Order: sequence, then C-alpha cells, then structure tokens
Amino acid sequence: MSNSLLWYTTRGAGAVSMILLSTVVILGILSTQRLQSPGWPRFLTTGLHRNLALMTLVFLVLHIVTAVVDPFTNLGWAAALIPFSSYYRTLWLGLGVISFELLLAIVFTSLLRGYLGHRVWRAIHWLTYAAWPVGVLHGLGTGTDTWAAWMLAITGACVAGVGIAIVMRLTSGATDPLAPSRTAFRSAVDRREAR
Ligand code: HEM
Repeated sequence: MSNSLLWYTTRGAGAVSMILLSTVVILGILSTQRLQSPGWPRFLTTGLHRNLALMTLVFLVLHIVTAVVDPFTNLGWAAALIPFSSYYRTLWLGLGVISFELLLAIVFTSLLRGYLGHRVWRAIHWLTYAAWPVGVLHGLGTGTDTWAAWMLAITGACVAGVGIAIVMRLTSGATDPLAPSRTAFRSAVDRREAR
C-alpha cells in the first residue's frame, strides 16, 4: 500500500468509526426506551446495535493498523496499545487508545454477558458514556480533517444525535415502572445461562 493510501485509509476509517460508534450509542440508548412500531419491532434496534458495534471494532482496527504501519507517523505498536506513550501527538493519541480499550472491554463483556451476570455487564457497559466522548475528543484533537466543512458536519451530527438520545434517556428513563422487575428477571436468566 502506498503511503498516501495508508494515510487516507487512517483518516477515512477514523471518520467512519466515529459515525458507527455514535450510531451504536444512539441505538443502545433507544433500546432502553423500548421504542417500537408495527414496521420496526424492538429486536431490530437491539440487533442493529450489536452488529454495528462489531462493525465499529472492524473499522477501528483498520484505522489503528493503517496508522501504525504508516511510515509517515512511524507510531510503533506500543503507541497504539499503551495510552500516552506515543511521541506523536501524545495527548490526542492517548485518548484514542483509552477509548479503543474501553470499547474492547465493553464488546467482550457483552459477548460474555451470560457468564458475568447482568450487574457486572451493565456496570462495564456504562463505560460507553466515557469511551464515546473520549474517542470524539481524540478525533477532534488529532484529525487532519477536523476543520473541513464535511468533517465538522459529521462531528456535529454525531454529537447532536448522541446528545438528543441522552436527553431522551434522562427525561424518560426514570419513568419505567417495570425497570426493577426487568433487572431482576435478566439477572436470573443470566445466572441460569452461566450454569
Ligand atoms: C489505539 C487507538 C487509536 C489510534 C492509534 C488512532 C490513531 C489516529 C491517528 C494517527 C489519527 C490522525 C489522522 C489524521 O491526522 O488525520 C487519528 C484520527 C482520528 N481518529 Fe483515531 N486512533 C485511535 C482510536 C480511535 C477511536 C477509538 C476513534 C473513535 C471514534 C477514532 C477516531 C478518529 C477520528 C474521527 C479521527 C480524525 C480523522 C480525520 O479528521 O481525518 N480513533 N487517529
């Protein structure tokens, strides 16, 4: 791969990762709202949430691998694995590493949810509220395209979408009268599946 192709791939995959991650966060929040209609059953929201989360990881791996092997940045693998160890844009790349590692923890604990139980899984899943803004900050801080009109539009749409979903969650989440019973039921199912 030529150097400029690697560089464009890093940038493109970074932007696609941010769009996917924001969509995953929005769908995750919407799934807690139990929204559905005859044309959009609830399992579509949860199914999309899961599959897009896995696709986000695929694009992030592409983003990271092309950034590391690009001779222009000459990052080295340690910079992609150990937060704030990069000589290049130490702070911004460190935030990217933290975001990626949090996302790995969130996805893997979701795949192992049956063994971990609902409480542990949920506590770790809440880290999404840290992983998403840290990833967005990383992109804003280090992106070549940050101030390009198209990238500003993408970042603005992602921030607005997630912001609106969080406001919806905060203003309607506490009103679910069945939430405690659902949590107890899920914990019982998780314990049973883990046996
Ligand atoms: C180990 C973790 C990561 C590494 C080593 C890494 C590396 C990089 C590098 C080198 C750039 C600079 C590209 C440029 O200057 O245009 C960049 C930009 C970017 N990264 Fe990451 N990244 C990581 C994780 C993430 C995560 C988790 C996200 C999640 C959204 C993300 C999204 C972005 C975005 C949106 C850009 C800006 C692209 C642009 O404006 O051209 N990155 N990343």
